[in-house]
Amino acid sequence: MQEITLSNGVKMPLLGYGVFQVSPAECERCVSDALSVGYRLIDTAQAYANEEGVGNAWRKSGLKREELFLVTKVWIANNGEEKAAKSIDESLRKLQTDYIDLLLIHQAYGDVFGTWRAMEKAYHDGKVRAIGVSNFQSGCFFDFAHYVDVKPMVNQLQCNTLIQQTAIEPILAEFGTRMMAWGPLGGQGVEGIVKSEELAAIGAKYGKSAAQVALRWLTQRGVVAIPKSSHKERMAQNFDIFDFTLTADDMAAVAKLNQHDTGTIDFGDPQFVKYLIENYG
Ligand SMILES: NC(=O)c1ccc[n+]([C@@H]2O[C@H](COP(=O)([O-])OP(=O)(O)OC[C@H]3O[C@@H](n4cnc5c(N)ncnc54)[C@H](OP(=O)(O)O)[C@@H]3O)[C@@H](O)[C@H]2O)c1
Repeated sequence: MQEITLSNGVKMPLLGYGVFQVSPAECERCVSDALSVGYRLIDTAQAYANEEGVGNAWRKSGLKREELFLVTKVWIANNGEEKAAKSIDESLRKLQTDYIDLLLIHQAYGDVFGTWRAMEKAYHDGKVRAIGVSNFQSGCFFDFAHYVDVKPMVNQLQCNTLIQQTAIEPILAEFGTRMMAWGPLGGQGVEGIVKSEELAAIGAKYGKSAAQVALRWLTQRGVVAIPKSSHKERMAQNFDIFDFTLTADDMAAVAKLNQHDTGTIDFGDPQFVKYLIENYG
């Protein structure tokens, strides 16, 4: 598996498996399948309510802890120094491990600076190997990264062939922050990428599917991708992207597919913020 090196020297797989909208009951089976396919990075979150399933799957896999890269996220209901610290211990308990490889702030609302202090402490105490954020769009990310002591090592954003997140790249680079792509295939029930004729035509040259081209394009940019599938054969297909290379012309052709550079969710929209805080804060 190809890896990237985070700003603190921690090595992170370039491709992983995500478990958003995988029910707690189904999660253990899905992660067991993903591990048997070869995935070693698993992306979960407190809000997904399936950290225990991830922990059960790796415990039963026989893999050594250091062979895995576990990612989880602090939810907005746990924001603030004290609550975030407790929630980190709760995530460790559910994941059945004594360290998390990468811990992210899930959403940029509430007392994120307090949350970050708890994450910095967990980082210095060895409970977490790397810390970062998710869904921090460019202005918000700059403000946050400027003022914190330990700079975010990762920003996990909605990113795929239709939502390319090119505008934020120089801002991330300023802080040595790497991008991780959620929704790398467009998300649940969205078929614009996996059924894209343009991507399929590129893939036909290499015997690859549109989905494989989409994931190869991200990882070839150096963006970590975490596709989700409940089907083992699709997990295997999505994993099989390191035996071909897109040419500069292919990369340029995919770059032209960009439609919503910063994503389809406006995280600054007061209605969206209100909805999240009122329902989950
Ligand atoms: N930080 C955040 O706020 C945030 C938000 C969303 C997601 N995430 C993370 O990112 C991960 C991935 O994002 P996502 O789950 O939203 O979407 P995604 O991985 O882009 O797409 C998943 C969808 O694509 C289908 N699929 C997967 N592989 C396929 C293939 N080879 N061919 C055709 N269809 C395929 C899946 O269906 P089947 O399952 O039926 O195969 C599912 O409907 C999540 O699981 C989560 O870990 C983070």
